Amino acid sequence: MAQYETITVEKDAQGTKGVTLLTLNRPKALNALNSKVLEELIDAFADYQADDSQLCAVLTGSGDKAFAAGADIKEMSEKAAADFYLDDFFSPWTSEIVKKTRKPWIAAVNGFALGGGCELAMMADFIVASDNAKFGQPEIKLGVAPGMGGSQRLTRAIGKSKSMEMCLTGRMMSAEEAERSNLIVRVVPQADLIADVLKTAATIAGMPPMATIANKEMVNSAFEMMLDQGLIVERRIFQILTASEDKAEGMAAFIEKREGQWKGR
Ligand code: CAA
Repeated sequence: MAQYETITVEKDAQGTKGVTLLTLNRPKALNALNSKVLEELIDAFADYQADDSQLCAVLTGSGDKAFAAGADIKEMSEKAAADFYLDDFFSPWTSEIVKKTRKPWIAAVNGFALGGGCELAMMADFIVASDNAKFGQPEIKLGVAPGMGGSQRLTRAIGKSKSMEMCLTGRMMSAEEAERSNLIVRVVPQADLIADVLKTAATIAGMPPMATIANKEMVNSAFEMMLDQGLIVERRIFQILTASEDKAEGMAAFIEKREGQWKGR
């Protein structure tokens, strides 16, 4: 397995078959996201996507303080506007990680998720947070604005008023408020977070793998399409799934009152 400097990767994490645990590992910098983290996450997500034995991933932060406190401010402070523009800075987070990872992944937010950290969590299929988690888009205080999707994904998740207030004031939102605002699925005591999320990931990893990718694609379509188009996508993907071996197995298993044995196709 690849050796990384800024992340760790554990397949079949803590004995959970089919689940990969990815951990941002720059605790002294509160797991701030620099170019090395991006490069290594792209590689690790591509490996997860390609490995048929791994069926759900979990992304978390090392230490008990932060998921990620944002894009690395020290790295960005040394760049000129032309560097950001010509490199299309931040673009690979969506183009290389979100778009290319068709399998499911969950963000387990274990502390600060600020700026790019909040944006990275929102790239996941869903978020579970510990009770000490804090979410925010404080970029305005640095004289900038969200750059990894915050103004778009946060607004879609929690609505215009709250998103606007968060972006304009840079305030932090508690885990409890994030749950109430539909940003996250649930709040868990910090000590239980990874065990809790690995359990959910194991449930997902036990589902028919092709149907898992299809369900993810359908739900994501709801964010990108008008209702009529989204309904067509849903029906077509459903119809394709009916040709799969796992559909025949899943329905037979139900009728025969036994567990399905999945082929992933
Ligand atoms: N980039 C680089 N280093 C960071 C960092 C970041 N985003 N956030 C924290 N660190 C570093 C600090 O510089 C500090 O390093 P040193 O010990 O070498 O000084 C270390 O992490 C610990 O941080 P603090 O001492 O500040 O810890 P704290 O407990 O007092 O405060 C905090 C915690 C409130 C999260 C504070 O660190 C903070 O406000 N961080 C910045 C948050 C932020 O503005 N994020 C947005 C970044 S811009 C962005 O993300 C753009 C985008 O849209 C993608």
